[in-house]
Amino acid sequence: MTAGATSAEIDRGRDILRASRGVVVLTGAGLSADSGLATFRGPGGQWRKHRPEELATPEAFRRDPRLVWEWYEARRRAAAEAAPNDAHRAIAEFALRRDDVTIVTQNVDGLHALAARCVATGPRRAPGNISRALPLELHGTFYRVRCTSCGRRREHRDLIDASSKETLPRCDDCGALLRPDVVWFGEPLGEAIERAFGCASQAEVCLVVGTSAVVQPAASVAMVTRRAGGAIIEVNPEETPLSPMCAVSLRDTAATAVPMLLAGCGGSSTAAC
Ligand code: OAD
Repeated sequence: MTAGATSAEIDRGRDILRASRGVVVLTGAGLSADSGLATFRGPGGQWRKHRPEELATPEAFRRDPRLVWEWYEARRRAAAEAAPNDAHRAIAEFALRRDDVTIVTQNVDGLHALAARCVATGPRRAPGNISRALPLELHGTFYRVRCTSCGRRREHRDLIDASSKETLPRCDDCGALLRPDVVWFGEPLGEAIERAFGCASQAEVCLVVGTSAVVQPAASVAMVTRRAGGAIIEVNPEETPLSPMCAVSLRDTAATAVPMLLAGCGGSSTAAC
């Protein structure tokens, strides 16, 4: 890890953002690391402690739905107790103040939406419709469930009792087990990824924050912008497979670098809630 982004690098990133029309902000677990939530592949990451095939596949859920729900419920509760950090807020303000920003996230923790709400309604209320700052959620969300039989989806924010199979949530309509409405390994991503690719192909910049960029097709969003002639700006303390393609790589944490980068580009370094 390097000592942090230099002011020259931040200035270069800002110049690119100011001169560009159309920005996709692609985010991953590293963005929420600064809110205290574990990433997947880094030190202390989920996939260092657990095997994805035991917790994040349709087969795993069929085999042991209680175990899968227990793991999701622990993560849901951690996310529900977490607050958006300065990077979430700066991104929300950036999207509210400009009309050409699309936020695309792999995160299922709901923190982009919380940041959008607090920046849109807080004391330094940013202009713009809140929907501009709501992300395309490529991998679903902790706060929705889906019926394993009839497929009906609904919002679910209440606690889930995963102490036994009998206490797991069931569908009001057909009585079948409900599952988290997230994308598991081996499952398709749905229409959000098509919309993300569409925006990425029109964008002049893809700002990539806190993702290892190894999970497809999400990681390809940045490449779509690049292939269409746009620039990639990356914020990540570590190198990623995208780094060689980046116009600017800010080797810093999201909560430090993103507010500085977006200040004066439509975002703010002090977006308050
Ligand atoms: P990863 O855990 O793979 O990567 C997190 C990235 O964040 C790494 O590149 C870290 O270097 C970086 N990082 C760590 N702390 C940071 C900080 N404070 N600020 C900025 N960056 C930081 O997480 P994702 O790339 O989001 O999918 O993982 C992608 C997908 O893999 C997830 O959506 C999940 C997982 O398996 C599913 O569950 C389907």
